[in-house]
Parts: sequence; structure tokens; C-alpha cells
Amino acid sequence: MKKRLLIVVMSLVLCIGFALSAIAQVKPATLVKQRQAAMTLLGKYFGPLGAMAQDKAPFDAEIVKRNALLLEALAKMPWDGFQEATANEKSEALPSVFKDPAKFKKASEDTQAAIANLVTVSKTGDTPALKTAIGGVGKTCGGCHDNFREKKQ
Ligand code: HEC
Repeated sequence: MKKRLLIVVMSLVLCIGFALSAIAQVKPATLVKQRQAAMTLLGKYFGPLGAMAQDKAPFDAEIVKRNALLLEALAKMPWDGFQEATANEKSEALPSVFKDPAKFKKASEDTQAAIANLVTVSKTGDTPALKTAIGGVGKTCGGCHDNFREKKQ
């Protein structure tokens, strides 16, 4: 009986070992692709809100509410893709991402906090407050891009 338990424990340990090595083996190029995909989707769902806040598109509180929730989930995704192992991959990430990880982390947290605020405000449907909250999110995206992303020509 004891032997059987030991076998079960051993195979569990092996399974966990395999699962961990599978996670560790994500290729740097794949990490870059994944973080860029998350950023692309942040852009997709933030873009229309930015346009509304700047009166370049008709304001629609329902879209703001929906996109705010999508942004909340998306804004959790890019960060574990910015690993040291990706430093030599072709991407728009500046070396500063890896030289000043604390500042980069803070910038990622600022965006998430601004989006959480947008989610809260989106439940009120108060247009001026929503525009301010959208502007607040936009500032955190731009602030990080200024410091950590290659400038577009
Ligand atoms: C903490 C820093 C940081 C924050 C905050 C941030 N970004 Fe980025 N973003 C980056 C970096 C770095 C890249 C370049 C990534 C790469 O090329 O691997 C990037 C790339 C992008 C791209 C281009 C993706 C592609 O196809 O290569 C878009 C679009 C984008 N970000 C949108 C946003 C939006 C919208 C927000 C705010 C909701 C945001 N980002 C917040 C750092 C940030």
C-alpha cells in the first residue's frame, strides 16, 4: 500500500516537473509575438475610446463600458513577455525595459490602475468623468511608450 502511494507521489512530481519545463521552454521570439499581440489588442480596444474622449467620434457610454472591461483583462497580459531572454530579439522594446525593470513595472502598474479607474467610472455613465478617465489611461500608455518603446518615424 505504501509502495503504491509512493509511486503516485513520484509520478505527480514528474508531471509537475514536465509542466514547469514546458513553461520555461517558451521561445524568446514567441514571447515577443505574444506581448506584441496583447499590445495590439490594447490598441484596438483603447483606440475608439481615445477618439471619443477627443470628440473625434460620437460618445457611446456602452462601448466605453464594454471596452474598459476588455482592457482590464488585456492589461494584465503583456508583462510576463518582457523577459531578459528576449533582449536580443527584434522588437520595438528599448534596452531600458531590461535596464530599469522597476520603472517599467511601475509604468505597467500605472496603466492597470488607470484602467481599473476607467472600469469604475464606466459604471456611472457620466460623460465628462469618462472622458477624463480615458485621458488618464492614454497618458499611462504614452508615458511608458516614451521611455520604453522605439520612436516611430
Ligand atoms: C509599461 C510600458 C507600457 C505600457 C503601460 C503600455 N505599453 Fe504599449 N508597448 C510597450 C512596449 C515596450 C512596446 C513594444 C513591444 C515590442 O515590440 O515587443 C509596446 C507596443 C505597443 C503597440 C504596438 C504593438 C505591435 O504590434 O508591435 C501598441 C499598439 C501598444 N503598445 C498600445 C498600448 C496601449 C493602447 C497602451 C495603454 C492602454 C499601452 N500600449 C501601454 C510598452 C507599454
